Amino acid sequence: MIDPFGRKIEYLRLSVTDRCDLRCSYCLPKGYSGFEEPQHWLNFDEIERLVRVFAKLGVGRVRLTGGEPLLRKNLPDLAGRISSIPGIHDLSLSTNATRLDRQAESLKAAGIDRINISLDSLVAERIEKLTGRNVLGPILSGIRAARDAGFRLIKINMVIIPGVNDGEIREMVRFCMDHGLILRLIETMPMGDSARSQGFFDLQPVMRDLMEKYALIPAVLPGGGPARYLQTPDGRFSMGFITPISRHFCETCNRLRLGVDGTLYLCLGQEDKIEFRQLLRADASEEMLEAAVLAAIERKPERHEFRESPQKIVRFMSATGG
Ligand code: GTP
Ligand code: 5AD
Ligand code: SF4
Repeated sequence: MIDPFGRKIEYLRLSVTDRCDLRCSYCLPKGYSGFEEPQHWLNFDEIERLVRVFAKLGVGRVRLTGGEPLLRKNLPDLAGRISSIPGIHDLSLSTNATRLDRQAESLKAAGIDRINISLDSLVAERIEKLTGRNVLGPILSGIRAARDAGFRLIKINMVIIPGVNDGEIREMVRFCMDHGLILRLIETMPMGDSARSQGFFDLQPVMRDLMEKYALIPAVLPGGGPARYLQTPDGRFSMGFITPISRHFCETCNRLRLGVDGTLYLCLGQEDKIEFRQLLRADASEEMLEAAVLAAIERKPERHEFRESPQKIVRFMSATGG
């Protein structure tokens, strides 16, 4: 699948729920409860049917996201169904890890290859303030459980919020070095009012500072996302920078997002979308689903406008899980 800007589309981010057990300030407002009705959630048969269509058209990577994906019941069953679809060679998960210790082994057994985990601070009170819950302990247990279950490529996502955790970057680098984790620093995107109010922290000077301190050199890591990676000269530690605001990466965009209700979002930073739930529930043929996906690709926007129009996106990050 090639879009009108010559980009090959091969990565589907699949949101399995828009609910979350946390309320990170850059994602969901405190007290938010306007979630999708359960009868609108695609069921596992519907999701599998749609992913088979995407795989046939050239999607090889699928990432399970939320909200918090581990809140969806029987997620390992879905993971197993997706990992056995011909053509899917990379199945990954983005999670806040509060419930990962209980599920890491079954997720690994179901065929999940890689896990990305949100961790914005190593200070318990700061995590509580940021997420609304005192969950540093469970998150750290989740990370340990993932390693024990045999996940080798664990990426830590740290969203940098000015005045909150920008002073903690070096500590986080140290922590990830010591624990064999890949750290990614992320600039906050203005998705919805709560995220917009967090402000933006430019990561370019941080990148220069860390390059100098650790003599970092460019690196290539497994994954299909937008991070630019660096590593220490001995290759033992790698880190990535996700800089949608200071240096966007839309020219290499390879992905689409499916919401839990069957809405296919064509760009994280635009409202363009196509509804698949009605088609699936009206028993659309495989050919009709394929045609709908191909028509969607034709409408994929060129890029986000987070800088030019930060007010534009009203949906919260939890609708698509990043
Ligand atoms: P891999 O590279 O496959 O490991 O995954 P990833 O980095 O794409 O996934 P993850 O869910 O860990 O997302 C990390 C950050 O990248 C989150 O803040 C996402 O919102 C952001 N991100 C992922 N895809 C896009 C995108 O298409 N556009 C923008 N602007 N941000 C993205
Ligand atoms: N800007 C940037 N990243 C965000 N995430 C959630 N909300 C935002 C935002 N407004 C990140 C989370 C998670 C990943 C899937 O998306 O930290 O790790
Ligand atoms: Fe939940 Fe993740 Fe959003 Fe935080 S960033 S509220 S953990 S979906």
